[in-house]
Amino acid sequence: MNAAKRIVLKHRPDGNPLASDFQLIDVEIGDLQPGEILIRTQWLSLDPFIMIMLDPAMAGPHAGQPGQPMSGSVVGTVVQSASAKFAEGDLVEARANWATYSIVKDDAPKLRKVPNLSDSSNALGAAGLTGLTAYSGIINVAAVQAGETVVISAAAGAVGSIAGQIAKLRGAHVVGIAGGPDKCAALKDLGFDEAIDYRTAGFAEALKAAVPNGIDVYFENVGGPVTLAVLPLLKYGARMPMCGFISYYGRENESNGPDMLPEFYRWMMLKGLRIQAFEGSITAGPDAMSQLVEWVEDGRIKPLRRVYEGLAEAPRAFEAMFRANDHVGKTLVRI
Ligand SMILES: NC(=O)c1ccc[n+]([C@@H]2O[C@H](COP(=O)([O-])OP(=O)(O)OC[C@H]3O[C@@H](n4cnc5c(N)ncnc54)[C@H](OP(=O)(O)O)[C@@H]3O)[C@@H](O)[C@H]2O)c1
Repeated sequence: MNAAKRIVLKHRPDGNPLASDFQLIDVEIGDLQPGEILIRTQWLSLDPFIMIMLDPAMAGPHAGQPGQPMSGSVVGTVVQSASAKFAEGDLVEARANWATYSIVKDDAPKLRKVPNLSDSSNALGAAGLTGLTAYSGIINVAAVQAGETVVISAAAGAVGSIAGQIAKLRGAHVVGIAGGPDKCAALKDLGFDEAIDYRTAGFAEALKAAVPNGIDVYFENVGGPVTLAVLPLLKYGARMPMCGFISYYGRENESNGPDMLPEFYRWMMLKGLRIQAFEGSITAGPDAMSQLVEWVEDGRIKPLRRVYEGLAEAPRAFEAMFRANDHVGKTLVRI
């Protein structure tokens, strides 16, 4: 038996998640069964899709229940193995609990040995699912071409900051939308051509001025008012890789506001808009991961991250993802 700490759901968030929706508990981890490994967590990735897994409207009967362990992507070391596939000391990425230790089956879908990286936390970011998502949206889904204008929302976030850099590598003119002057400055440092703060009063006008020839590709991460400002600026036949819509996550309990669907349909028809929702881990081609590792290791992609220290900080870090925050890049917890 091993003593571990774990975070469980106290109650489902009502709207945006709050740190108080979660609880840190002590647990005993039992003995391994054949085919299982015990992982000591080193890095925990916090991702907005976790909210979808707590939302009955999206996850149906599988939606997280109070008392259940929270789970996400982790990088950790195998400290015990009852598997022929993994040995003690292996560094792995897995879907596991928000916990100091987790038991994982050796055939679990997202379990892999971490590739040779100078910083293993990148396996959860630019050289992991985050990178695959960015790569997939820009290259497989939107097929961005040199000279095109690409606009990215939540551009200073984990996916957005990588997507923008990949679009730059493709030779596109890249405009990032982010909240606050510091995030916009960080985007310019990364090589974005323009960075627009959506929290300022003149946002729509500033965005229009940044795309004088219109938008070929809108990399959608947020939905809501940001998207409504983008739609009139699209060129006819524009592509919209639909990566996420964070402004609506956890909103099933809210009363209906004005119905914006007619406006959205109108723009779709007027712009001949081509929308494709995608899951990066599925749509990224077989070469994506090795390409991302190469870009990260040779410095052509700069992974940014915000690190919280200690498992107990995970709820606070998760809360911050859904409100104004100073996170640039990937949100990680060092365990
Ligand atoms: N399709 C896939 O396979 C896939 C995989 C991973 C992630 N995703 C999606 O990609 C998007 C970004 O994920 P990420 O992991 O990179 O997270 P992230 O961008 O690092 O963090 C979320 C950011 O979203 C912005 N935000 C939060 N609430 C907002 C709102 N109401 N309106 C506008 N912006 C808001 C905040 O940045 P600001 O301060 O700039 O507002 C926040 O920092 C999410 O929608 C996520 O679900 C999709």
